[in-house]
Amino acid sequence: MHNAAFAALGVDAVYVAFDVAPEALAAAVAGARALGIRQLAVSIPHKQAMLALCDEVDATARRIGAVNTVTLQAERLVGTNTDWIGVVRALEACTPLAGRDAVVLGAGGAARAAVFGLRERGARVRVLNRTRLRAEQLAAELGATHAGTLDELADGPCDVLVNTTSVGLREDVSPVPAGAIPAGCIVLDAVYDPARTRLLRDAEARGAHTIEGKWWLVHQAAEQLRAWTGAEAPLDVMATAFDGIQER
Ligand code: ATR
Repeated sequence: MHNAAFAALGVDAVYVAFDVAPEALAAAVAGARALGIRQLAVSIPHKQAMLALCDEVDATARRIGAVNTVTLQAERLVGTNTDWIGVVRALEACTPLAGRDAVVLGAGGAARAAVFGLRERGARVRVLNRTRLRAEQLAAELGATHAGTLDELADGPCDVLVNTTSVGLREDVSPVPAGAIPAGCIVLDAVYDPARTRLLRDAEARGAHTIEGKWWLVHQAAEQLRAWTGAEAPLDVMATAFDGIQER
């Protein structure tokens, strides 16, 4: 995605993927600094550990508790979080969020970014998770109105539903029963493999509007590009590149 965007924008840069073990993260970051690598896109499972390895972390990433983007600015490693912008932009392409009732499924790092983004845009948020205690902690910390378990979806209003659990990843299962999905709601799944998850197919069959996980990914990557180059990222080019990876 990043490389397709660089090519389209004429930016002389390349993104490469490194598989880094947790115990090697500090050394990898020191190496990146020494090499003058301009930006790091940080993925699972390093987003929390990365907080302590940056010279500076912006207030948003600190609040979310995760850094997914590190940009070298005047020799300093500046950590930020673009996951929350990704989820907000993917949803805002379909609906305004202010005053809407949202439900976030899950209570991990992706859920924290989603709840932060939805609250930032003025939505009310319920957090539902397999482990209620994690949902309660997240809700209290990030200003969600209610916390509960996954079987509570139908117990309250839901204009916007965001799945951040890993349920459905390369498996034909859904985190919630099809009958609990309201007909008119908008459903975004963080899972992007497969593109049409069971949750999205169930939601579509119920008459809901669905947004594939790739849009969350593409929008957060677009924001990474903006953080470094200042350029407006070519979303369609990035989405097409993503589709190419999926087809391989
Ligand atoms: P991430 O940082 O990507 O959000 P995570 O912190 O490992 O990942 O969180 C994974 C989320 O998926 C959690 O909300 C987890 O629920 P628990 O808090 O109860 O562990 C949820 N999850 C994972 N497997 C699940 C399953 N089989 N059923 C329901 N929820 C599941």
